[in-house]
Amino acid sequence: MGTPIKHITVIGAGNMGHQIAICAAISGFQTVCIDQNEEAIKRASDFADSYLASRIAKGRMSGIEVAQTKARLQFKTSLAEAVKEADLVIEAIIEKLEVKLDVFGQLDQLCPSHTILATNSSYIVSSQIAPATKRPDKVVNMHFFNPALVMSLVEIVKGPHVSDETVAKLEAVTVQLSKTPVVLQKEIYGFVVNRMLQATRKEALNLLDLGIASVEDIDQAVIKGLGYPMGPFQLLDLTGIDLAYHVGMEKYQDSGNEADKPSPTIVDKFQKGEWGKKVGKGFYEY
Ligand SMILES: NC(=O)c1ccc[n+]([C@@H]2O[C@H](COP(=O)([O-])OP(=O)(O)OC[C@H]3O[C@@H](n4cnc5c(N)ncnc54)[C@H](O)[C@@H]3O)[C@@H](O)[C@H]2O)c1
Repeated sequence: MGTPIKHITVIGAGNMGHQIAICAAISGFQTVCIDQNEEAIKRASDFADSYLASRIAKGRMSGIEVAQTKARLQFKTSLAEAVKEADLVIEAIIEKLEVKLDVFGQLDQLCPSHTILATNSSYIVSSQIAPATKRPDKVVNMHFFNPALVMSLVEIVKGPHVSDETVAKLEAVTVQLSKTPVVLQKEIYGFVVNRMLQATRKEALNLLDLGIASVEDIDQAVIKGLGYPMGPFQLLDLTGIDLAYHVGMEKYQDSGNEADKPSPTIVDKFQKGEWGKKVGKGFYEY
């Protein structure tokens, strides 16, 4: 099945990227995580140190396993250096098509010809990104969930341009990451999980805007009544209200449908910089 995947490079060390990289290194892959922002790299590297130390403290990993994981994990800021040996690149940068097109164009030039170029995008399907490269059969959605070190699902989306070999390789990598792959046979906006999630979130924002119940009470209702592990507003704070804003704007720009615009509450929070847990305030204070 072609070159086996041994080297993984993760582009972006934000919310998702740094945890995907740590997960890959723990699972035995030679891993590089890069970000254009030096502060993000420093934060990611500090988090890796404290996370791995906590695995020893909890008896989940031995000192030797942690030392081996650290030896497999590098944090860098130079794209060219980070991808030259990559068998698989997982892009986890800002959710903007034009930025992703630029990065995939560069990746196509810099990576070996066998390298699979995956995007962790939650909504942008790979058929929109593949034209930036000369290897459309190897450009694919590989969608992790937040927090990536904990959540075990990965959605793999077989766009019409994606080869069976690429999908089979990503399924195998996902299993090696101790996660569960789900293959979507066709591209669809939001894939499976986010379509389900968006429906709940839309209704939660609607109920809030109608003044039916508070943020806290809607979250409690969903947790206690539907058995969800977390309420829709708690989850928005975790995944980032800025992300919800950009996702809504991308969808609106794509469809031209007013109903796809982010809700007034999301626009308000976005403009105030209340983006959720990462900035200390969203629907809740941290
Ligand atoms: N946040 C979530 O819950 C979640 C879940 C699943 C998938 N995703 C997807 O993952 C991607 C990343 O989301 P996030 O929440 O981790 O974003 P984030 O804003 O936390 O992190 C993005 C990182 O990418 C870096 N970056 C931006 N442009 C870059 C470039 N050209 N080269 C190198 N680094 C660059 C930024 O400096 C930042 O550190 C998005 O496509 C999003 O749709 C997010």
